[in-house]
Amino acid sequence: MQIDFTGKRVLVTGGTRGIGRAAVKSFLEAGALVAVNGRTTESTASGTAALGGGDRVFAAPGDISKAADCENVVNTAVEMLGGLDVLVNSAGVAQSGIIEDFDEAAWDRTLDVNLKGTFFCVRAALVALRESKGNIVNLASDAGLIGDPRLTVYCASKGGVVNMTRAMALELAPDVRVNCVCPGFIDTDMVRRDGIEKADDPAAEEQALIDYAALKRIGTPGEIASAIVYLASNEARFVTGAAFQIDGGSTAG
Ligand SMILES: NC(=O)c1ccc[n+]([C@@H]2O[C@H](COP(=O)([O-])OP(=O)(O)OC[C@H]3O[C@@H](n4cnc5c(N)ncnc54)[C@H](O)[C@@H]3O)[C@@H](O)[C@H]2O)c1
Repeated sequence: MQIDFTGKRVLVTGGTRGIGRAAVKSFLEAGALVAVNGRTTESTASGTAALGGGDRVFAAPGDISKAADCENVVNTAVEMLGGLDVLVNSAGVAQSGIIEDFDEAAWDRTLDVNLKGTFFCVRAALVALRESKGNIVNLASDAGLIGDPRLTVYCASKGGVVNMTRAMALELAPDVRVNCVCPGFIDTDMVRRDGIEKADDPAAEEQALIDYAALKRIGTPGEIASAIVYLASNEARFVTGAAFQIDGGSTAG
């Protein structure tokens, strides 16, 4: 299956690192014009430079934990791209800890990026997406489908993304499709730098993450990017409201 995005206009939030960055690369390979969002002007500039720049890459910096920034990011992208066909909400944060570790500020930090930011980016993109009959792919998680101890707040945010995706899919049909992907553990900074490397016993932590998946390994960002590109493509034209697990079987039973 050859997916062609030539001339299609895509915005990826959190597109400078990890899964978002892999999605940006895949969309570029498929011929799309891509606006890349990072939290700051500097991180976005270095992220787009690392992608090799090129005349199909645009910078749309902004902190999507703030509704006003979501609007600015989307408006910048729509202006530079000349419209919008696909919105990928990949910006996200994860903090682990027991319930008592989370005060109001820590709750807000996670929910504001993962759930509020996703909602307000969608809201800001609606005019452009309705015009193009475009679609949205949200980054949820296997932690949005099943509980994970020490990730209660993250689970709350991603469970919210899963069900918000379904509600949006119903509200925006038939003009705009809305889906989410639910990755298991994927080898990005979120898991390796902020998780494995900070554990008391990094080797044991890595082995635990490997064992968590039925397929006995950690996934790659490219494996999630492939699913994102599929859902965003015309090949998935009958798919909306889906929560697509790409988790090596971690939620299978
Ligand atoms: N890595 C995994 O195992 C995994 C599993 C399931 C779901 N996810 C989800 O996939 C998405 C991407 O995660 P990743 O693993 O690539 O993480 P990552 O930490 O490698 O990248 C996350 C990106 O989001 C950006 N970001 C964070 N807060 C932001 C903000 N306020 N404004 C703008 N950008 C912001 C970061 O700068 C970074 O570029 C997240 O939503 C994450 O929750 C990841």
